[in-house]
Amino acid sequence: MTIELRPLTAADAQAHCAGEDELTVRWLTGGYGTVEGTIEFFEWLAGNADARVGKRGFGIWKSGRLCGYIDYNPDLDDGLDPDDVALAYAVHPWARGHGVAVEAVQLVCDVLRAEELGTRAAIRVEPENSASVRVAQKAGFSYLRDFPSNRDTQPDGTPTTFSLYLLDL
Ligand SMILES: CC(C)(COP(=O)(O)OP(=O)(O)OC[C@H]1O[C@@H](n2cnc3c(N)ncnc32)[C@H](O)[C@@H]1OP(=O)(O)O)[C@@H](O)C(=O)NCCC(=O)NCCS
Repeated sequence: MTIELRPLTAADAQAHCAGEDELTVRWLTGGYGTVEGTIEFFEWLAGNADARVGKRGFGIWKSGRLCGYIDYNPDLDDGLDPDDVALAYAVHPWARGHGVAVEAVQLVCDVLRAEELGTRAAIRVEPENSASVRVAQKAGFSYLRDFPSNRDTQPDGTPTTFSLYLLDL
């Protein structure tokens, strides 16, 4: 399978939003996006890419069709060491189960190596999110520990527990 990572533009916002489902909301975004808000988000990502700071995001394309999203964030410090770079991703429902996320994670790690950014890539995943745990394992990441978030909470107010998976870059 050949997939490609490319920057996202306003023209991709509708397809990006159409690719969200309840799993995306539950495990990643916390809510469905609007096309307007998504265009603003993509413009913010483009500004970060130009300035080479903060979160950098990409669309994932398979056979010419947008099928997912992945980003890296060198600034996220919740449960991480200063040189860790956090990854986050989602694959559109129709494209799941074909290894897209694993390949996208590997491509982003190649970008981090090329940019000499960070010493470890980090995936923070709620232990119940078995599909994403599998992505971390299949991409070669090693489990380090579970930790309570100091940012994210459950609906009852208790801190979200994340499992931390790391890969040396
Ligand atoms: C997690 C996610 C990105 C995985 O993407 P993917 O491209 O389907 O990943 P893979 O094809 O490598 O499959 C990973 C695991 O997902 C599970 N899976 C397989 N088919 C699936 C399907 N049709 N639907 C959902 N999950 C599936 C399997 O357990 C698989 O592991 P296996 O190959 O050992 O059986 C995707 O399920 C998703 O977008 N989830 C919602 C957002 C999310 O959880 N993001 C991560 C936050 S930490």
